[in-house]
Amino acid sequence: MTDADTKAPALQKVKAPADGRPLLEARELTKHYAVPRGMFKEDATVRALDGVSFRLHAGRTLAVVGESGCGKSTLARQVTLIEQPTAGDFLLEGENLAGATPEKLKQARTKVQIVFQDPYGSLNPRKKVMSILEEPLVINTKMSQEQRRDRAQEMMRVVGLRPEFAARYPHMFSGGQRQRIAIARALMLNPRVVVADEPVSALDVSVQAQVLNLLMDLQEEFGVAYLFISHDLSVVQHIADDVLVMYLGNVVEHGPKEAIFAEPAHPYTRALMASTPKIRAAERAQKVALTGELPSPMNPPSGCRFHTRCPFVIDRCKSEIPKVRDVAGRGVACHRAEEVLAGTA
Ligand SMILES: Nc1ncnc2c1ncn2[C@@H]1O[C@H](COP(=O)(O)OP(=O)(O)O)[C@@H](O)[C@H]1O
Ligand code: SF4
Ligand SMILES: [Mg+2]
Repeated sequence: MTDADTKAPALQKVKAPADGRPLLEARELTKHYAVPRGMFKEDATVRALDGVSFRLHAGRTLAVVGESGCGKSTLARQVTLIEQPTAGDFLLEGENLAGATPEKLKQARTKVQIVFQDPYGSLNPRKKVMSILEEPLVINTKMSQEQRRDRAQEMMRVVGLRPEFAARYPHMFSGGQRQRIAIARALMLNPRVVVADEPVSALDVSVQAQVLNLLMDLQEEFGVAYLFISHDLSVVQHIADDVLVMYLGNVVEHGPKEAIFAEPAHPYTRALMASTPKIRAAERAQKVALTGELPSPMNPPSGCRFHTRCPFVIDRCKSEIPKVRDVAGRGVACHRAEEVLAGTA
């Protein structure tokens, strides 16, 4: 056998679909959970995700932002095919996977990988890094052990770790290094999309920038798309191309980062920015303070779901659900978006 036969197939750059289609598309994606309320009562319904639509292209980063409880991780579970949606469509490379067969889902799952927030909990402490990295290849490919080890060592280098460190256990690494290992594992199968659910939130600020820069370098090199979930707008400003702002399972604002950060059009986006001291771009925008508690997704407010906390609320907002419409280069779901932008609301 020659050297070429035994070497692991090289990591590939993600190819964008030829006709300019997105890698991934969600259409009115919906996830409701039934929660038991006791023996004599009907189950309650948690509307964790209620009609979310977006597109994600190869090599791009879509950041999903919103307070805790807005449905971000629920969205991550639909996109990574861990759960099936209650309604709506979910297309990966043009193929609708909502309601797909288990066989189809199993195939598709290798194309979407996830990196979790907690670098301490997400790596099996009893396994050496080598076997953590090899595992996806053992399950999903016919690669030989030698090929798998080659690929794992190559991946260690790609994420900036010494290949021989693969013989160590996770506890021997720092938080930032563990997140590099989690990223390496996510890339082992040449995924099209990586969902990163708060990937730097648990790290020291000094380490956050290094991990964000690594993610951006890897995107440049491999063309992978990111669905990047974060509640930290300063992180989002650093890494995103497009932004999707969620409130109680709905999209409230969606569009290019530049447009949204320069002039947020939804009162909720303004409130999130006003509560992030590090964001200066939105300074010209009228400040909106976020008051009151997030209402329960079991019993969301009528009309605009944000009306119970919005300083610009009018009667119409309480009865009429605002649809996402194009205003000033982004989509926004607010009856008064033009007035909010003009500062006359
Ligand atoms: N498996 C589940 N069963 C019932 N409710 C759930 C489940 N998963 C999430 N939820 C509820 O859905 C809402 C959205 O949760 P989540 O997606 O975790 O939000 P986020 O990640 O933005 O904090 C929350 O009210 C949460 O309690
Ligand atoms: S629709 Fe009304 S309540 Fe909702 S964000 Fe706009 S102004 Fe506020
Ligand atoms: Mg979450």
